Amino acid sequence: MKIGILGAGNVGGALGQSWAKKGHQVFFGVRDPNAPELQARLSKAGENVRVGSLQEATDFGEVIVLTLPWEAVEETLGAIAPSGSSRVTANLEGKILLDCTNPNFSADAEQYHPVSGGERVAAWVPKTKVVKIFNTTGWENMANPQYGSESLTMLYAGDDAEAKAVAAQLATDIGFEPLDAGPLVNSGLLESLAQLWGKLAYGQKLGRNIAFKLLQH
Ligand SMILES: NC(=O)c1ccc[n+]([C@@H]2O[C@H](COP(=O)([O-])OP(=O)(O)OC[C@H]3O[C@@H](n4cnc5c(N)ncnc54)[C@H](OP(=O)(O)O)[C@@H]3O)[C@@H](O)[C@H]2O)c1
Repeated sequence: MKIGILGAGNVGGALGQSWAKKGHQVFFGVRDPNAPELQARLSKAGENVRVGSLQEATDFGEVIVLTLPWEAVEETLGAIAPSGSSRVTANLEGKILLDCTNPNFSADAEQYHPVSGGERVAAWVPKTKVVKIFNTTGWENMANPQYGSESLTMLYAGDDAEAKAVAAQLATDIGFEPLDAGPLVNSGLLESLAQLWGKLAYGQKLGRNIAFKLLQH
């Protein structure tokens, strides 16, 4: 599958390199494709990985993966472009967008916003099939979702059945056990779970080597 990843940091880098190893074609979209640190980090990523602009990644991907800081999301998606619809936004139309962001981690009052990040992303790109996923655990767990013999649970929420099936398959491909958490309106629950993960990792000092697993008889 052709995957365009917006951002190539901790989350984007971990997901993209894992998908590339599984045979997916990955295109990282970044502000500065020639940044030395990025070039060095991705130099051994293999032939399935390319790097270019945010626009090129959006053009490339059948699936677009949003791994930007929350503060950069609205502007990048073009919702506030003067025309009301930038080329990035236009090229997202009809595509699947996996939203990995967590607004609750931003430093400002955003954390008290009554509408979830997933729903706000969907409102900014209305003709795009948004699935909230890959936001409830640390990036290290995305690079390696195996804890001994256990595969970590990856919860996802969205309104489009086809998009959710693709998201679930992409989670399976890199070693997660995907679990459907219902419609996109449940994104807020996943964002709260991410907050809880952070409180446990840092507030309770459990560290980042922790993850959620749903058990079922
Ligand atoms: N870290 C985690 O464990 C984790 C887990 C789950 C979800 N998340 C969420 O995933 C998202 C990414 O987190 P991360 O840890 O991967 O962040 P990160 O390592 O800081 O990477 C962010 C990426 O976005 C780019 N970027 C930053 N500001 C930008 C802007 N204004 N316009 C365009 N691109 C910009 C950065 O590129 P430059 O190099 O050009 O700055 C970088 O490629 C966040 O929303 C976070 O809440 C993080």
